[in-house]
Amino acid sequence: MGKLIIFEGLDGSGKGTQTELACQSLRQKGYDPLKITFPDYESESSALVKMYLSGQFGQKPDDVNAYAASTFYAVDRYASYKTSWGSAYRSNSLIISDRYTTSNAVHQCSKLPPMHWDGFLEWLFDFEYKKLGLPAPDAVIYLAVDPDVSQRLIAERYNGDQTKMDIQEKDTEYLARSRAAAEYCARKLGWKRIECTTVADGVKTIRSVEDIHAEVLAYLESLV
Ligand SMILES: Nc1ncnc2c1ncn2[C@@H]1O[C@H](COP(=O)(O)OP(=O)(O)OP(=O)(O)O)[C@@H](O)[C@H]1O
Ligand SMILES: [Mg+2]
Repeated sequence: MGKLIIFEGLDGSGKGTQTELACQSLRQKGYDPLKITFPDYESESSALVKMYLSGQFGQKPDDVNAYAASTFYAVDRYASYKTSWGSAYRSNSLIISDRYTTSNAVHQCSKLPPMHWDGFLEWLFDFEYKKLGLPAPDAVIYLAVDPDVSQRLIAERYNGDQTKMDIQEKDTEYLARSRAAAEYCARKLGWKRIECTTVADGVKTIRSVEDIHAEVLAYLESLV
């Protein structure tokens, strides 16, 4: 079997940026990583995720319960595993993924009271890794960004146009709960936590892309 490494983090934490850079650097070092991304928006398999994020099941993330929402993302992963990267994984490839089952852990735990998190996580991993048969990751890199800072990055990306945000991105209270859930998951599940927030001139900000990448790469080299 191959190796599956995940980049995880809250919305706007730099997952896409760091996944791409990690693949580029690993290629320069002679590895041949396959980059995958979830949700797989290019595929029809993400239809239910799109309906959910655009508010067709309700205007708030909490309108779709943790278990129902998790299934939308899980079947999208199943489809891409079957049609795209499953055979590469089984023939020993290195797969680097921007989000995975771990995103259900972060974004769906947050809909439940903390006393139900362990039970939810047990259900989730049994569902995706055992019942659906998706591979469990070998390592998860958690990009920890203060929610205020990631919110600012998202706003900048949309040039302040709130209407472009999905129902999760709009809900700051939900994002704060997701942060608590992410921190819990990182501790409980042994994720590699990379602190991406720093303070410059008394203002909380994100570390530079290159600085975070250097720390990520040092960790990746210990794995591959
Ligand atoms: N370290 C950084 N410093 C400054 N800007 C950054 C940094 N990392 C990413 N960005 C910018 O912040 C925005 C969000 O980054 P990116 O898309 O990589 O995050 P993401 O975690 O994949 O977001 P999403 O959860 O929405 O998919 C982008 O506009 C990106 O260029
Ligand atoms: Mg992204």
